[in-house]
Amino acid sequence: MRILVTGGAGFIGSHLVRRLLTGGDNFVVNLDALRYSGNLENLTDVAGHSRYTFVLGDICDATTVEKVLKEHGVKVVINCAAETHVDRSILDPNSFARTDVVGTAVLLEEARKAGVARFLQVSTDEVYGSVETGWSKEGDPLAPRSPYSASKAGGDLLVRSYWTTYRFPVLITRGSNTYGPNQYPEKFIPLFATNAIDDQPLPLYGDGRHRRDWLSVFDHCRGIEHVLFHGEPGCVYNIGGGNERENIAVAELILKILGKPMNLIRLVQDRPGHDRRYALDCARLQALGWAPTVLFEDGLKETVEWYRTNQTWWRKITSGEFRTYYERLYRQRLQGAG
Ligand code: DAU
Repeated sequence: MRILVTGGAGFIGSHLVRRLLTGGDNFVVNLDALRYSGNLENLTDVAGHSRYTFVLGDICDATTVEKVLKEHGVKVVINCAAETHVDRSILDPNSFARTDVVGTAVLLEEARKAGVARFLQVSTDEVYGSVETGWSKEGDPLAPRSPYSASKAGGDLLVRSYWTTYRFPVLITRGSNTYGPNQYPEKFIPLFATNAIDDQPLPLYGDGRHRRDWLSVFDHCRGIEHVLFHGEPGCVYNIGGGNERENIAVAELILKILGKPMNLIRLVQDRPGHDRRYALDCARLQALGWAPTVLFEDGLKETVEWYRTNQTWWRKITSGEFRTYYERLYRQRLQGAG
């Protein structure tokens, strides 16, 4: 199968590209704009693979997308390209609307015109908003609360409209908080692991009792692949890890794994509009034959170990743009503007 993965140099995208190449006989084209978190070093092991092609380009650019779809005879599109970090969306909301809404619209329309056989949109549990109790089902109303989740919800609605309007065979996956190797160290687990390695404080937002459901990137990619091949067109599938934890418990586990003192944890000013809890009902995908396989404690240990042994990968990031971004965030929080 000839598959286009957009955002294939990012965290989830790069794991997905590797998975699609190693099982079966897929040809994979990776279209990535290589913005701050897209990193070709995530794919050095498959860069020379005979069934893999990298194209530098933006999903907002219809001409590029049209050309890639045509030249490579793409039959399936998986859209992983997105702006994904909530804190960044608070500082710079427009870039989220651009990539996550406009980019999705451009990609969808070009894919429809090219007669693509399947279009899978990689989305997020955040579109359901904060759920204080219970578990979000695929049919629940969308109630996003940050510029990030609102932009992803906008993308989801466009994708769904292509099914109802054109019967274009779309699928949507909504994953929970994903963790694993190669995740940009602005997200909670890699930020806390890399800070702890350097004996730096771990900035825990608010009271630290917010809850997230942690999903290994390997299970997430298995889920996306499962939906791609077995999902029903027009349908949405939740993908959750079944590992709901309070943030403070995860921070403590990371410190325990690294043998660092608990007093590195610092309670800091909360993220504005911080969603208290996400939780997914995954019965629909489980009925299709998928279940998570990675135990959180094992997956976290392996991930933290990866950051301990791959310091060259993340130190290039923490010494550059990442540092400026975090300084800006902290300045804003100190001024009380955040
Ligand atoms: O739920 C799926 C979503 O998970 C994905 O769609 C998003 O792309 C991804 O960014 C993630 O969103 P979160 O906001 O939940 O992830 P983040 O890693 O930013 O934060 C996880 C939790 O940890 C959240 O409650 C905020 C908290 N946190 C985060 C950071 C970066 C802190 O307490 N301190 C921090 O410095």
